[in-house]
Amino acid sequence: MSRELRFETRAIHAGQEPDEATGATIVPVYQTVTFTQDGVGQHRGFEYSRSGNPTRAALEACLASLEGGRFGFAYASGMAAISGVMQLLSAGDHVVVADDLYGGSYRLFTQVMPRFGVRFSFVDATRPEEIDKAFETETRMLWIESPTNPLLRLVDIAACGEIARRRGAQLVVDNTFATPFLQNPLALGATVTLHSTTKYIGGHSDVIGGAVVVDDEELEKRLQFTRNATGGVPGPWDAWLTLRGAKTLALRMREHERNAASVAEFLVGRPEIAKVHYPGLPDHPGHELARRQMRGFGGMLAIELRGGAVAAKKLCESTRLFALGESLGGVESLIGYPWSMSHAAFPAEEKRRKGVSEAVVRISVGIEHADDLRADLAQALEQAARAG
Ligand SMILES: Cc1ncc(COP(=O)(O)O)c(C=O)c1O
Repeated sequence: MSRELRFETRAIHAGQEPDEATGATIVPVYQTVTFTQDGVGQHRGFEYSRSGNPTRAALEACLASLEGGRFGFAYASGMAAISGVMQLLSAGDHVVVADDLYGGSYRLFTQVMPRFGVRFSFVDATRPEEIDKAFETETRMLWIESPTNPLLRLVDIAACGEIARRRGAQLVVDNTFATPFLQNPLALGATVTLHSTTKYIGGHSDVIGGAVVVDDEELEKRLQFTRNATGGVPGPWDAWLTLRGAKTLALRMREHERNAASVAEFLVGRPEIAKVHYPGLPDHPGHELARRQMRGFGGMLAIELRGGAVAAKKLCESTRLFALGESLGGVESLIGYPWSMSHAAFPAEEKRRKGVSEAVVRISVGIEHADDLRADLAQALEQAARAG
């Protein structure tokens, strides 16, 4: 599928030609383990579904197109995708990591990968000079998220790409929060972009998945080999659900953003709230950078309650439309308490140092009507104020 087609068109057509065997317009769910061969060593492109499956291949081609890379890899979860990228490393290698990151990635980098001899240095990536200083001769990878989870800080992807290139390292960007609709890291200098497709790409909170996209043939070969060797693939139904979600990503992201902007504006004026973190607000420290490297500001925001932990927890427990739960990026609004939920894996002093205090609440703004979302938050904030 040609890259000249616009995003919305590629989301619906890339990798999704009518089925060769039947003409089915929608990519079928190829619920099969194996593919009957015409003769020994003579197959039609697929042999065994761990190595390749047509439904998964359609999803991979679509995601590659949306991210502007040639090669897409679907994984069983976002963490499987992250592990897949980690498998590019060997004992003795070193990774520089932006310290504002998803708790699950932090857990993998601090509690699992070191057992295999891979070392990690955590830095404040909003300051590129800190990144440069953390590089060692064995540094093979620079790992960042932007916007970050949960405080929506912005990291300059092009500046990181420049450092990684100069140092001969891969720049990996976890693009889950931004989505390919709002940001394409490969075009900004990254060599690997990855997603928890569980979030915005799947979009309906009904399927766990992950994806990696690269444009480099050498990386493609290594990822193909290691994923086949280690086996973290999604089943065809999950690939199909994720592909169905991806078709409406553009529509949903526009609504997520419109609602998030409306909710952020409402929250800024509330007396119960000390701070609203949303890159679309002009006083957000990353606002100008977001304008440069993104095509919008997304649907995530974080707030700090004046009433501290008590008020923050009460807010999370008092909303009626915002479900209290892990995850983000679904059509339904979610509310979460990073301190003990998404960021539970970080030590308390580390969380405080990064500004993820007990007063922080994270909100994934869904695509319900903004009036209803604001009204729900208003009633919940009143309850939080009484508690805090
Ligand atoms: C930024 C980010 N990356 C990766 C993951 C892991 O994805 P999954 O839950 O699909 O394994 C998450 C999950 O919350 C996330 O928020």
